[in-house]
Amino acid sequence: LLGVPPSLSAKVVGSFAYLTVRDRLPTILTKVIDTIHRNKNKFFEEYGEEGIQAEKQTISLLSKMRNELQTDKPVLALTDCLQDTESWNQYLQRHQIEGDEESVSWFKSPWLYVECYMYRRIQEALWLNPPISDYDVFNEGKTQSFFESQQAVMALCTYLEGVKKNMEEISKNQLFEQFNKLLQVSLWGNKCDLSISAGQDNSQKTSPIDSLDSLQPLILVDDSNMVWSTLTSMQRPGQPEKITAGRVDIVLDNAGFELVTDLILADFLVSSGLVREVHFHGKSFPWFVSDVTAHDFQWTIRQTMAANHRWMSKSGVQWQMYVKEGVWSYHDHPFWTLPHEFCDMATDAPDLYATLKAADLVLFKGDLNYRKLTGDRDWDHTVSFDTALRGFGPAPLCSLRTLKANVQVGLQPGQGEKLTSQNPDWMTSGKYAVIQFGSPKDQ
Ligand code: F6P
Ligand code: MG
Repeated sequence: LLGVPPSLSAKVVGSFAYLTVRDRLPTILTKVIDTIHRNKNKFFEEYGEEGIQAEKQTISLLSKMRNELQTDKPVLALTDCLQDTESWNQYLQRHQIEGDEESVSWFKSPWLYVECYMYRRIQEALWLNPPISDYDVFNEGKTQSFFESQQAVMALCTYLEGVKKNMEEISKNQLFEQFNKLLQVSLWGNKCDLSISAGQDNSQKTSPIDSLDSLQPLILVDDSNMVWSTLTSMQRPGQPEKITAGRVDIVLDNAGFELVTDLILADFLVSSGLVREVHFHGKSFPWFVSDVTAHDFQWTIRQTMAANHRWMSKSGVQWQMYVKEGVWSYHDHPFWTLPHEFCDMATDAPDLYATLKAADLVLFKGDLNYRKLTGDRDWDHTVSFDTALRGFGPAPLCSLRTLKANVQVGLQPGQGEKLTSQNPDWMTSGKYAVIQFGSPKDQ
Protein backbone atom coordinates (compact mmCIF):
# COMPACT_ATOMS: atom_id res chain seq x y z
CA LEU A 1 0.00 0.00 0.00
CA LEU A 2 2.52 2.49 -1.22
CA GLY A 3 1.82 6.05 -0.10
CA VAL A 4 -1.22 5.13 1.97
CA PRO A 5 -0.90 6.02 5.66
CA PRO A 6 -1.33 3.34 8.35
CA SER A 7 -4.69 2.47 9.89
CA LEU A 8 -5.59 4.06 13.22
CA SER A 9 -5.02 1.48 15.93
CA ALA A 10 -5.16 0.97 19.68
CA LYS A 11 -1.49 0.05 19.55
CA VAL A 12 -0.76 3.78 19.79
CA VAL A 13 -1.01 4.07 23.57
CA GLY A 14 -3.02 7.10 24.65
CA SER A 15 -4.67 7.59 21.24
CA PHE A 16 -8.45 7.85 20.96
CA ALA A 17 -8.46 4.38 19.40
CA TYR A 18 -6.56 3.07 22.42
CA LEU A 19 -8.95 4.72 24.89
CA THR A 20 -11.92 3.37 22.96
CA VAL A 21 -10.68 -0.21 23.06
CA ARG A 22 -9.50 0.07 26.65
CA ASP A 23 -12.48 1.88 28.16
CA ARG A 24 -15.44 2.42 25.90
CA LEU A 25 -15.82 -1.00 24.30
CA PRO A 26 -15.75 -2.93 27.60
CA THR A 27 -18.32 -0.48 29.01
CA ILE A 28 -20.61 -1.12 26.06
CA LEU A 29 -20.19 -4.88 26.48
CA THR A 30 -20.99 -4.68 30.17
CA LYS A 31 -24.18 -2.77 29.36
CA VAL A 32 -25.16 -5.39 26.80
CA ILE A 33 -24.66 -8.13 29.38
CA ASP A 34 -26.76 -6.22 31.94
CA THR A 35 -29.53 -5.65 29.42
CA ILE A 36 -29.74 -9.34 28.57
CA HIS A 37 -29.75 -10.26 32.23
CA ARG A 38 -32.44 -7.71 33.08
CA ASN A 39 -34.66 -9.28 30.43
CA LYS A 40 -34.33 -12.78 31.82
CA ASN A 41 -37.99 -12.93 32.86
CA LYS A 42 -39.15 -11.81 29.48
CA PHE A 43 -37.14 -14.65 27.86
CA PHE A 44 -38.61 -17.08 30.37
CA GLU A 45 -42.16 -15.94 29.64
CA GLU A 46 -41.60 -16.29 25.90
CA TYR A 47 -39.47 -19.43 25.67
CA GLY A 48 -39.64 -21.08 29.08
CA GLU A 49 -36.55 -22.89 30.38
CA GLU A 50 -34.94 -22.68 26.93
CA GLY A 51 -35.07 -18.90 27.14
CA ILE A 52 -33.24 -18.98 30.46
CA GLN A 53 -30.58 -21.29 29.04
CA ALA A 54 -30.15 -19.00 26.03
CA GLU A 55 -29.77 -15.99 28.32
CA LYS A 56 -27.07 -17.76 30.38
CA GLN A 57 -25.18 -19.02 27.32
CA THR A 58 -25.22 -15.66 25.61
CA ILE A 59 -23.96 -13.88 28.71
CA SER A 60 -21.19 -16.41 29.13
CA LEU A 61 -20.04 -15.94 25.50
CA LEU A 62 -20.08 -12.17 25.91
CA SER A 63 -18.15 -12.26 29.19
CA LYS A 64 -15.59 -14.47 27.53
CA MET A 65 -15.21 -11.96 24.71
CA ARG A 66 -14.86 -9.07 27.18
CA ASN A 67 -12.05 -10.97 28.81
CA GLU A 68 -10.33 -11.63 25.47
CA LEU A 69 -10.54 -7.94 24.71
CA GLN A 70 -9.21 -6.77 28.05
CA THR A 71 -6.28 -9.18 27.97
CA ASP A 72 -5.44 -8.38 24.32
CA LYS A 73 -5.95 -11.93 23.04
CA PRO A 74 -5.85 -12.81 19.31
CA VAL A 75 -9.02 -12.14 17.37
CA LEU A 76 -10.90 -15.44 16.82
CA ALA A 77 -12.65 -16.75 13.72
CA LEU A 78 -16.45 -16.67 13.82
CA THR A 79 -18.17 -19.99 14.42
CA ASP A 80 -21.71 -19.25 13.21
CA CYS A 81 -22.78 -19.96 9.65
CA LEU A 82 -24.35 -16.82 8.33
CA GLN A 83 -24.23 -14.98 5.06
CA ASP A 84 -21.21 -12.90 6.08
CA THR A 85 -19.27 -15.41 8.24
CA GLU A 86 -17.02 -16.38 5.36
CA SER A 87 -16.12 -12.74 4.58
CA TRP A 88 -15.16 -12.09 8.20
CA ASN A 89 -13.01 -15.18 8.44
CA GLN A 90 -11.30 -14.51 5.12
CA TYR A 91 -10.54 -10.97 6.23
CA LEU A 92 -9.00 -12.34 9.42
CA GLN A 93 -6.90 -14.85 7.48
CA ARG A 94 -5.63 -12.14 5.17
CA HIS A 95 -4.48 -10.08 8.15
CA GLN A 96 -2.89 -13.12 9.76
CA ILE A 97 -0.84 -13.77 6.67
CA GLU A 98 0.31 -10.17 6.50
CA GLY A 99 1.58 -10.24 10.07
CA ASP A 100 2.14 -13.06 12.46
CA GLU A 101 -0.88 -14.77 14.00
CA GLU A 102 -0.49 -13.07 17.37
CA SER A 103 -0.52 -9.62 15.81
CA VAL A 104 -4.23 -9.81 15.01
CA SER A 105 -5.31 -8.93 18.50
CA TRP A 106 -7.70 -6.45 20.08
CA PHE A 107 -5.08 -3.80 20.75
CA LYS A 108 -2.74 -4.43 17.83
CA SER A 109 -5.13 -4.63 14.87
CA PRO A 110 -6.69 -1.70 13.03
CA TRP A 111 -9.23 0.02 15.26
CA LEU A 112 -11.92 0.05 12.58
CA TYR A 113 -11.67 -3.70 12.21
CA VAL A 114 -11.67 -4.46 15.94
CA GLU A 115 -14.58 -2.17 16.72
CA CYS A 116 -16.74 -3.64 13.93
CA TYR A 117 -15.71 -7.13 14.99
CA MET A 118 -16.99 -6.56 18.52
CA TYR A 119 -20.50 -5.79 17.24
CA ARG A 120 -20.40 -8.83 14.98
CA ARG A 121 -19.34 -11.04 17.90
CA ILE A 122 -22.28 -9.76 19.97
CA GLN A 123 -24.48 -10.91 17.12
CA GLU A 124 -22.72 -14.27 16.99
CA ALA A 125 -23.39 -14.84 20.71
CA LEU A 126 -27.09 -14.24 20.08
CA TRP A 127 -27.26 -16.27 16.89
CA LEU A 128 -25.71 -19.26 18.60
CA ASN A 129 -28.67 -19.15 20.99
CA PRO A 130 -31.66 -19.39 18.69
CA PRO A 131 -34.55 -18.54 21.02
CA ILE A 132 -33.17 -15.04 21.53
CA SER A 133 -31.24 -14.60 18.30
CA ASP A 134 -33.46 -11.77 17.04
CA TYR A 135 -33.27 -9.83 20.29
CA ASP A 136 -31.90 -6.30 19.75
CA VAL A 137 -29.72 -5.58 22.77
CA PHE A 138 -29.65 -1.89 21.90
CA ASN A 139 -33.37 -1.43 21.35
CA GLU A 140 -34.12 0.08 24.76
CA GLY A 141 -31.51 2.81 24.33
CA LYS A 142 -32.68 3.66 20.81
CA THR A 143 -36.35 3.99 21.74
CA GLN A 144 -35.52 5.98 24.86
CA SER A 145 -33.44 8.43 22.86
CA PHE A 146 -36.35 8.83 20.41
CA PHE A 147 -38.84 9.60 23.18
CA GLU A 148 -36.49 11.98 24.95
CA SER A 149 -36.15 13.99 21.75
CA GLN A 150 -39.93 14.44 21.32
CA GLN A 151 -39.97 18.21 21.82
CA ALA A 152 -37.27 18.71 19.23
CA VAL A 153 -39.04 16.36 16.80
CA MET A 154 -42.31 18.27 17.18
CA ALA A 155 -40.52 21.55 16.59
CA LEU A 156 -38.94 20.18 13.41
CA CYS A 157 -42.18 18.74 12.04
CA THR A 158 -43.91 22.06 12.68
CA TYR A 159 -41.09 23.87 10.90
CA LEU A 160 -41.28 21.51 7.93
CA GLU A 161 -45.03 22.03 7.66
CA GLY A 162 -44.43 25.80 7.45
CA VAL A 163 -41.84 25.35 4.72
CA LYS A 164 -44.12 23.08 2.70
CA LYS A 165 -47.04 25.47 2.94
CA ASN A 166 -45.01 28.21 1.27
CA MET A 167 -43.23 26.01 -1.22
CA GLU A 168 -45.20 27.26 -4.24
CA GLU A 169 -44.35 30.91 -3.66
CA ILE A 170 -40.70 30.78 -2.76
CA SER A 171 -37.85 31.77 -5.03
CA LYS A 172 -34.96 29.49 -5.95
CA ASN A 173 -32.74 31.36 -3.51
CA GLN A 174 -35.18 30.85 -0.68
CA LEU A 175 -35.42 27.19 -1.59
CA PHE A 176 -31.64 26.97 -1.36
CA GLU A 177 -31.78 28.62 2.05
CA GLN A 178 -34.31 26.11 3.34
CA PHE A 179 -32.34 23.26 1.86
CA ASN A 180 -29.23 24.47 3.67
CA LYS A 181 -31.05 24.66 6.97
CA LEU A 182 -32.45 21.15 6.72
CA LEU A 183 -29.12 19.77 5.52
CA GLN A 184 -27.51 21.28 8.63
CA VAL A 185 -30.25 19.93 10.87
CA SER A 186 -29.49 16.47 9.51
CA LEU A 187 -25.76 17.14 9.96
CA TRP A 188 -26.08 18.13 13.62
CA GLY A 189 -28.52 15.29 14.19
CA ASN A 190 -25.38 13.16 14.05
CA LYS A 191 -24.35 14.47 17.45
CA CYS A 192 -27.01 12.20 18.91
CA ASP A 193 -25.35 8.81 18.76
CA LEU A 194 -25.12 6.40 21.61
CA SER A 195 -21.80 4.83 20.70
CA ILE A 196 -19.56 7.77 21.53
CA SER A 197 -21.20 8.11 24.96
CA ALA A 198 -21.00 4.33 25.52
CA GLY A 199 -24.80 4.25 25.66
CA GLN A 200 -25.34 7.26 27.96
CA ASP A 201 -28.20 9.63 27.24
CA ASN A 202 -27.57 11.48 24.01
CA SER A 203 -30.86 12.96 22.88
CA GLN A 204 -31.81 16.36 21.50
CA LYS A 205 -33.86 18.50 23.85
CA THR A 206 -34.25 21.82 22.05
CA SER A 207 -35.24 22.88 18.55
CA PRO A 208 -32.15 22.57 16.38
CA ILE A 209 -33.35 25.20 13.91
CA ASP A 210 -32.70 27.96 16.47
CA SER A 211 -29.10 26.92 17.06
CA LEU A 212 -27.98 26.68 13.42
CA ASP A 213 -26.44 30.17 13.29
CA SER A 214 -24.34 29.65 16.38
CA LEU A 215 -23.21 26.25 15.13
CA GLN A 216 -22.19 27.51 11.68
CA PRO A 217 -18.56 28.41 12.66
CA LEU A 218 -18.05 24.83 13.83
CA ILE A 219 -18.52 23.47 10.29
CA LEU A 220 -14.90 23.04 9.20
CA VAL A 221 -15.61 22.19 5.56
CA ASP A 222 -18.86 23.34 4.00
CA ASP A 223 -19.41 22.04 0.48
CA SER A 224 -23.18 22.52 0.55
CA ASN A 225 -22.96 24.59 -2.66
CA MET A 226 -21.72 21.53 -4.51
CA VAL A 227 -24.48 19.39 -3.08
CA TRP A 228 -27.00 21.98 -4.19
CA SER A 229 -25.62 22.19 -7.72
CA THR A 230 -25.64 18.41 -7.99
CA LEU A 231 -29.27 18.36 -6.92
CA THR A 232 -30.36 21.12 -9.26
CA SER A 233 -28.46 19.78 -12.25
CA MET A 234 -30.46 16.56 -12.05
CA GLN A 235 -33.27 18.49 -13.65
CA ARG A 236 -32.90 18.83 -17.38
CA PRO A 237 -33.88 22.29 -18.62
CA GLY A 238 -37.22 22.51 -20.35
CA GLN A 239 -38.59 19.35 -18.71
CA PRO A 240 -41.23 19.36 -16.00
CA GLU A 241 -39.32 19.02 -12.71
CA LYS A 242 -41.27 16.13 -11.28
CA ILE A 243 -40.39 13.88 -14.22
CA THR A 244 -36.70 14.52 -14.53
CA ALA A 245 -35.68 14.94 -10.90
CA GLY A 246 -33.32 12.25 -9.75
CA ARG A 247 -32.62 9.81 -6.98
CA VAL A 248 -30.82 10.49 -3.73
CA ASP A 249 -29.50 7.68 -1.55
CA ILE A 250 -28.98 8.27 2.16
CA VAL A 251 -26.62 5.88 3.93
CA LEU A 252 -28.14 6.17 7.38
CA ASP A 253 -26.35 6.27 10.69
CA ASN A 254 -28.20 6.49 14.02
CA ALA A 255 -31.79 5.86 15.03
CA GLY A 256 -33.55 8.25 17.43
CA PHE A 257 -33.32 11.97 16.73
CA GLU A 258 -30.78 11.67 13.91
CA LEU A 259 -33.05 9.42 11.85
CA VAL A 260 -35.90 11.91 12.22
CA THR A 261 -33.66 14.70 10.89
CA ASP A 262 -32.83 12.49 7.88
CA LEU A 263 -36.49 11.79 7.20
CA ILE A 264 -37.26 15.52 7.45
CA LEU A 265 -34.53 16.27 4.91
CA ALA A 266 -35.77 13.49 2.61
CA ASP A 267 -39.35 14.79 2.90
CA PHE A 268 -38.17 18.27 1.93
CA LEU A 269 -36.21 16.94 -1.06
CA VAL A 270 -39.24 15.08 -2.38
CA SER A 271 -41.97 17.60 -1.59
CA SER A 272 -39.97 20.42 -3.16
CA GLY A 273 -39.67 18.40 -6.38
CA LEU A 274 -35.86 18.50 -6.19
CA VAL A 275 -35.77 14.73 -5.99
CA ARG A 276 -38.02 11.99 -7.30
CA GLU A 277 -36.96 9.10 -5.12
CA VAL A 278 -35.01 8.47 -1.91
CA HIS A 279 -33.33 5.16 -1.08
CA PHE A 280 -32.33 4.70 2.55
CA HIS A 281 -29.58 2.25 3.47
CA GLY A 282 -29.47 0.75 6.96
CA LYS A 283 -27.85 -2.10 8.87
CA SER A 284 -29.01 -5.71 8.79
CA PHE A 285 -28.30 -6.26 12.49
CA PRO A 286 -27.86 -4.01 15.56
CA TRP A 287 -24.63 -2.08 15.13
CA PHE A 288 -22.55 0.58 16.95
CA VAL A 289 -25.25 0.87 19.62
CA SER A 290 -27.60 3.25 17.87
CA ASP A 291 -27.44 2.51 14.13
CA VAL A 292 -30.70 2.13 12.19
CA THR A 293 -32.08 -1.34 11.36
CA ALA A 294 -35.17 -2.11 9.25
CA HIS A 295 -37.15 -2.45 12.45
CA ASP A 296 -35.99 0.97 13.74
CA PHE A 297 -36.89 2.56 10.41
CA GLN A 298 -40.47 1.24 10.40
CA TRP A 299 -40.91 1.77 14.12
CA THR A 300 -39.85 5.43 13.87
CA ILE A 301 -42.34 6.16 11.10
CA ARG A 302 -45.14 4.42 13.01
CA GLN A 303 -44.34 6.31 16.21
CA THR A 304 -44.28 9.60 14.35
CA MET A 305 -47.68 8.80 12.82
CA ALA A 306 -49.13 7.91 16.19
CA ALA A 307 -47.85 11.03 17.98
CA ASN A 308 -50.33 13.20 19.76
CA HIS A 309 -49.21 16.30 17.88
CA ARG A 310 -50.84 17.59 14.75
CA TRP A 311 -47.80 18.27 12.58
CA MET A 312 -45.76 15.38 13.86
CA SER A 313 -48.46 12.84 13.07
CA LYS A 314 -49.08 14.53 9.71
CA SER A 315 -45.40 14.07 8.87
CA GLY A 316 -45.55 10.42 9.93
CA VAL A 317 -48.58 9.78 7.72
CA GLN A 318 -46.82 11.43 4.79
CA TRP A 319 -43.69 9.29 5.34
CA GLN A 320 -45.73 6.11 5.49
CA MET A 321 -47.32 7.12 2.21
CA TYR A 322 -43.93 7.72 0.59
CA VAL A 323 -42.90 4.21 1.64
CA LYS A 324 -46.13 2.69 0.40
CA GLU A 325 -45.84 4.40 -2.97
CA GLY A 326 -42.19 3.41 -3.33
CA VAL A 327 -41.04 7.05 -3.37
CA TRP A 328 -39.02 6.08 -0.31
CA SER A 329 -37.49 2.67 0.14
CA TYR A 330 -35.37 1.00 2.79
CA HIS A 331 -32.49 -1.31 1.86
CA ASP A 332 -29.87 -3.23 3.72
CA HIS A 333 -26.79 -5.08 2.59
CA PRO A 334 -24.25 -7.21 4.51
CA PHE A 335 -21.41 -4.98 3.32
CA TRP A 336 -22.48 -2.16 5.68
CA THR A 337 -21.70 -4.38 8.66
CA LEU A 338 -18.30 -5.57 7.45
CA PRO A 339 -15.10 -3.84 8.58
CA HIS A 340 -14.07 -2.98 5.01
CA GLU A 341 -13.02 0.43 3.76
CA PHE A 342 -15.40 1.73 1.11
CA CYS A 343 -12.65 1.72 -1.54
CA ASP A 344 -13.03 -2.08 -1.41
CA MET A 345 -16.76 -1.99 -2.16
CA ALA A 346 -16.46 -2.29 -5.94
CA THR A 347 -14.54 -5.57 -5.52
CA ASP A 348 -16.10 -6.97 -2.35
CA ALA A 349 -19.73 -5.97 -2.90
CA PRO A 350 -20.12 -5.21 -6.61
CA ASP A 351 -23.91 -5.47 -6.39
CA LEU A 352 -24.09 -2.73 -3.75
CA TYR A 353 -21.65 -0.61 -5.73
CA ALA A 354 -23.87 -0.96 -8.79
CA THR A 355 -26.92 0.01 -6.72
CA LEU A 356 -25.25 3.21 -5.53
CA LYS A 357 -24.14 3.98 -9.07
CA ALA A 358 -27.77 4.39 -10.04
CA ALA A 359 -28.13 7.29 -7.58
CA ASP A 360 -27.55 10.90 -8.61
CA LEU A 361 -26.21 11.76 -5.16
CA VAL A 362 -25.28 9.66 -2.13
CA LEU A 363 -25.31 11.20 1.35
CA PHE A 364 -23.21 9.37 3.95
CA LYS A 365 -24.32 10.11 7.47
CA GLY A 366 -22.07 10.08 10.48
CA ASP A 367 -18.66 9.34 11.77
CA LEU A 368 -18.31 5.64 11.10
CA ASN A 369 -19.20 6.15 7.44
CA TYR A 370 -16.52 8.86 7.26
CA ARG A 371 -14.00 6.49 8.77
CA LYS A 372 -14.86 3.91 6.13
CA LEU A 373 -14.80 6.48 3.32
CA THR A 374 -11.27 7.52 4.30
CA GLY A 375 -10.17 4.02 5.37
CA ASP A 376 -9.77 5.20 9.01
CA ARG A 377 -6.18 6.08 8.26
CA ASP A 378 -3.73 8.55 9.66
CA TRP A 379 -4.03 10.98 6.75
CA ASP A 380 -2.46 14.39 6.73
CA HIS A 381 -5.28 16.92 7.25
CA THR A 382 -4.48 18.70 3.99
CA VAL A 383 -4.82 15.62 1.79
CA SER A 384 -7.87 16.04 -0.43
CA PHE A 385 -11.06 14.09 0.27
CA ASP A 386 -10.87 12.63 -3.24
CA THR A 387 -7.38 11.26 -2.54
CA ALA A 388 -8.53 9.70 0.73
CA LEU A 389 -11.48 8.07 -1.06
CA ARG A 390 -8.93 6.06 -3.05
CA GLY A 391 -11.09 5.61 -6.10
CA PHE A 392 -14.39 5.12 -4.32
CA GLY A 393 -17.03 7.09 -6.16
CA PRO A 394 -20.10 5.26 -7.43
CA ALA A 395 -21.88 8.64 -7.71
CA PRO A 396 -21.34 12.20 -6.49
CA LEU A 397 -21.23 11.87 -2.73
CA CYS A 398 -21.30 13.96 0.40
CA SER A 399 -20.37 13.14 3.97
CA LEU A 400 -22.43 14.76 6.74
CA ARG A 401 -20.42 14.07 9.84
CA THR A 402 -19.70 15.38 13.30
CA LEU A 403 -16.09 14.57 14.19
CA LYS A 404 -15.68 11.67 16.63
CA ALA A 405 -12.50 9.93 15.48
CA ASN A 406 -8.92 10.93 14.64
CA VAL A 407 -9.31 11.28 10.93
CA GLN A 408 -10.00 14.47 9.01
CA VAL A 409 -8.94 15.34 5.49
CA GLY A 410 -9.54 18.22 3.08
CA LEU A 411 -8.57 21.04 5.45
CA GLN A 412 -6.70 24.24 4.55
CA PRO A 413 -2.98 24.35 5.33
CA GLY A 414 -2.60 25.30 8.99
CA GLN A 415 -6.28 24.75 9.83
CA GLY A 416 -5.66 21.48 11.66
CA GLU A 417 -2.72 22.89 13.64
CA LYS A 418 -4.76 25.91 14.66
CA LEU A 419 -7.62 23.71 15.87
CA THR A 420 -5.21 21.49 17.81
CA SER A 421 -3.74 24.48 19.61
CA GLN A 422 -7.18 25.84 20.54
CA ASN A 423 -8.92 22.59 21.25
CA PRO A 424 -6.73 19.46 21.45
CA ASP A 425 -9.68 17.07 21.20
CA TRP A 426 -11.32 18.78 18.20
CA MET A 427 -11.42 15.54 16.20
CA THR A 428 -13.14 13.43 18.83
CA SER A 429 -15.44 15.70 20.83
CA GLY A 430 -18.35 15.70 18.37
CA LYS A 431 -18.33 19.50 18.57
CA TYR A 432 -17.11 20.12 15.00
CA ALA A 433 -18.60 18.92 11.75
CA VAL A 434 -18.08 18.72 7.99
CA ILE A 435 -20.28 18.79 4.91
CA GLN A 436 -17.71 17.30 2.57
CA PHE A 437 -18.34 16.63 -1.11
CA GLY A 438 -16.49 14.04 -3.15
CA SER A 439 -16.40 13.79 -6.93
CA PRO A 440 -16.61 10.33 -8.35
CA LYS A 441 -13.61 8.74 -9.96
CA ASP A 442 -15.57 6.01 -11.59
CA GLN A 443 -18.34 7.15 -13.89
O1 F6P B 1 -15.62 5.38 19.16
C1 F6P B 1 -16.56 6.41 19.04
C2 F6P B 1 -17.40 5.95 18.03
O2 F6P B 1 -17.91 4.74 18.42
C3 F6P B 1 -16.56 5.87 16.80
O3 F6P B 1 -15.80 4.77 16.90
C4 F6P B 1 -17.54 5.79 15.76
O4 F6P B 1 -16.95 6.19 14.61
C5 F6P B 1 -18.56 6.69 16.31
O5 F6P B 1 -18.46 6.74 17.68
C6 F6P B 1 -19.92 6.32 15.92
O6 F6P B 1 -20.42 7.50 15.46
P1 F6P B 1 -21.50 7.59 14.35
O7 F6P B 1 -22.75 7.10 14.96
O8 F6P B 1 -21.52 9.06 14.04
O9 F6P B 1 -21.02 6.78 13.19
MG1 MG C 1 -23.74 5.27 14.60
